[in-house]
Amino acid sequence: TTPLRIALAGLGTVGSGVIRLINENGAMIAQRAGRPIEISAISARDRARDRGMDLSPYKWADDMNDFAADPGVDCVVEMIGGSDGPALDLARNSLKSGKSFVTANKAMIAHHGMELASLAEKQNLALKYEAAVAGGIPVIKGLREGASANRIERVYGILNGTCNYILTTMEKHGSDFDAVLKDAQDLGYAEADPSFDIDGVDAAHKLAILAALSFGKAVDFDGVEIAGIRDIVAADIGQAKALGYRIRLLGMARIDDGKLFQRVNPYLVPESHPLAHIDGSTNAVVAEGNFSGRLMFQGAGAGDGPTASAIVADLIDIARGDSGTVFAMPASKMAASERAESGNR
Ligand code: HSE
Repeated sequence: TTPLRIALAGLGTVGSGVIRLINENGAMIAQRAGRPIEISAISARDRARDRGMDLSPYKWADDMNDFAADPGVDCVVEMIGGSDGPALDLARNSLKSGKSFVTANKAMIAHHGMELASLAEKQNLALKYEAAVAGGIPVIKGLREGASANRIERVYGILNGTCNYILTTMEKHGSDFDAVLKDAQDLGYAEADPSFDIDGVDAAHKLAILAALSFGKAVDFDGVEIAGIRDIVAADIGQAKALGYRIRLLGMARIDDGKLFQRVNPYLVPESHPLAHIDGSTNAVVAEGNFSGRLMFQGAGAGDGPTASAIVADLIDIARGDSGTVFAMPASKMAASERAESGNR
């Protein structure tokens, strides 16, 4: 059997996690996928860094864009991040050269998902991004495949682990915002630029992707109304609690009169709702389908193990021969959504 030959761009914690997972579970994965997944090339900005593993079996590329021209590569895995620049160049080059593409990059899919989906679908190549939304939770597969027979009425959830960690830690210990943000950075949840977390932008990237999948619309990041948690003080949390509520940063999307409404905002969640009990950096996504009823997906939204788990699941799909439709329907058939503006009501 021919292996699926992959190239890894970026060897931070996620990239190292992917190598570890493939080494540890490789034999089982080969059985499930029907063929092995083989790492045929790697690239990283810093080759010398100690990643706690032996990288000598792998071929280094001087430039990750060499993957595109390498006949020994079937699929490129992007773990460098950033909505534009090197990640986007790599995605375009890889797909144009006939390689399938797996990415953990929510910002790139939120901004350029439609262009990349068209590129992939025209050539019947896979473009997969399970790791881009809510880390290890299989919510992309859950919505795209598991719930695909439903009309989804509303999708919402806790999409940023850093904010949920900050809010729930302030709630428990009455701690100061800046100190808790520093902890979240030390624990490795926060984005390189933590303003993306606390100002709601990271949650908005993920929401735009979930909304597209849920409603069969084109990804519309610019249509997300965004507010973060920067101005929330411990007293707000205490007052909400006294009234029977918890404050949670939620991303929420629904169809309103045929128009798409998307918003990231701190909401008051009653203690009786499951989202009030999602603590720490955990993520949770709720989708309401007209036949499935309320679905809730919950788990780790970040971290090397969970993110690697999502990436390798995508690779297994590709090894099995899955390609084609990237979102809820072919990109060429998807209408740009008309936006419902909250200010109008
Ligand atoms: N900074 C993100 C979070 C990481 O806190 O949820 C996962 O996308």
